[in-house]
Amino acid sequence: MNKLAIIGGNPVRDTKTNPWPKWPVWDKNEEKGLIETLNSGIWSYNGPMEKEFNRMYAEFIGVKYALSAANGTVTLQMALEACGIGLGDEVILPGLTWQATAATVLDVNATPVLVDVCEDTWCIDPEEIRKSITPRAKAIIPVHLYGSFANMDEIMKIAKEYNLFVIEDCAHKHGGEWNGKKAGSIGDIGSFSFQLSKILTAGEGGALTTNTFSLYERLDALRNCGRRPEPPDSSKADKGEGLYFDEGNFLQSGNYRITEFQAAILTEGLKRLPEQNRIREENAIYLNSLLSQIPGIKPMKRDNRETKEVYYNFSFRYDKKEFKDLAVQKFRAALSAELGIEIAASYIPLNKCSLYAPLTKPARHKLSEYYWEIINPSRFNLPVCDRVHYEESACVHHKVLMGPKSDMDLIAEAIRKVYQQAESL
Ligand SMILES: Cc1ncc(COP(=O)(O)O)c(C=O)c1O
Repeated sequence: MNKLAIIGGNPVRDTKTNPWPKWPVWDKNEEKGLIETLNSGIWSYNGPMEKEFNRMYAEFIGVKYALSAANGTVTLQMALEACGIGLGDEVILPGLTWQATAATVLDVNATPVLVDVCEDTWCIDPEEIRKSITPRAKAIIPVHLYGSFANMDEIMKIAKEYNLFVIEDCAHKHGGEWNGKKAGSIGDIGSFSFQLSKILTAGEGGALTTNTFSLYERLDALRNCGRRPEPPDSSKADKGEGLYFDEGNFLQSGNYRITEFQAAILTEGLKRLPEQNRIREENAIYLNSLLSQIPGIKPMKRDNRETKEVYYNFSFRYDKKEFKDLAVQKFRAALSAELGIEIAASYIPLNKCSLYAPLTKPARHKLSEYYWEIINPSRFNLPVCDRVHYEESACVHHKVLMGPKSDMDLIAEAIRKVYQQAESL
């Protein structure tokens, strides 16, 4: 029998002769867009590439307004500010997410309230949201994590009941649909990241989406040093600055703008995205059908309201009892060795995550003794997040879903190989 690769056997996939699909993806069109931008001399500041991308992105998400920005962290911060959230307000978010979802709440001096997730989607648990609501609650930030979708029906119902804003963190969900509506078009504001690992990328970048004009106006000002949006009729613009100064600046803010080079890359990437999403979804459905036949492996739950699923990571749940008690850390290492690609754990729960450490910054965050106490993440108890991260999660980059169906067969074969030889580790 061929031994496990981690102890010297031949791997299921030899990535030297059979590499995984590459990420990011680009071609001559990106090169052309970049060179044209370079030669135009318009490298930033509400340029034609940015405007075209914003128009295309609004159309793609199915919202009235889309604004691009520097990254998917500042978009969250601006979304919170646009909703008027600040000191004394509580913002409810899942304990299993990238640190930015919570850190940006601190950046506007509000209080992050970490709640537990559903065990089968790893997205925020609506029941836990209900339990955590106090009169100070002002917003919910659901995160559509990896290949899952937060239960937007329940979340919107709760938000309506308690008059809360909903800011969808769509850093992983460019094009995913719930009941035929795209992520980022369901809540008040959608926040997207275009960082290198994301399914639409310019290396760095972000976007905000909304259907509400007053929010759009504030978001546009926030990303552009507080200036008002340019009016639709450019003849009204002050020619000196190219800006609309009739009413003066109306918000204090900074520079969170994107460059024309990023917008040029994003415009081309967006043209490719629907087909890439289709391929990833088709492969994920097939792979999940194979995984569901392996003892100890549970595919993530796909709600039948998820009319289109997109995958930032492909993830699944592992049960060591079926693998002769092999710890998940060893399982992931063995699978990585078979497949020649990192199999990672989920995000670290935010009550234990070293990158989410508000108490390392007293000069910024010690607004009062009370605030100092309530922003301490260790006060939250997140048993499902803990179980997911420390015992059950396995996640792999979305590029593995971009190849042929036979790649999915190989992934399933590698898991079966670890299953059959778990005792040897
Ligand atoms: C869920 C989530 N939210 C927000 C962000 C922040 O995006 P960015 O890296 O573009 O700042 C990320 C980035 O990984 C993310 O995964």
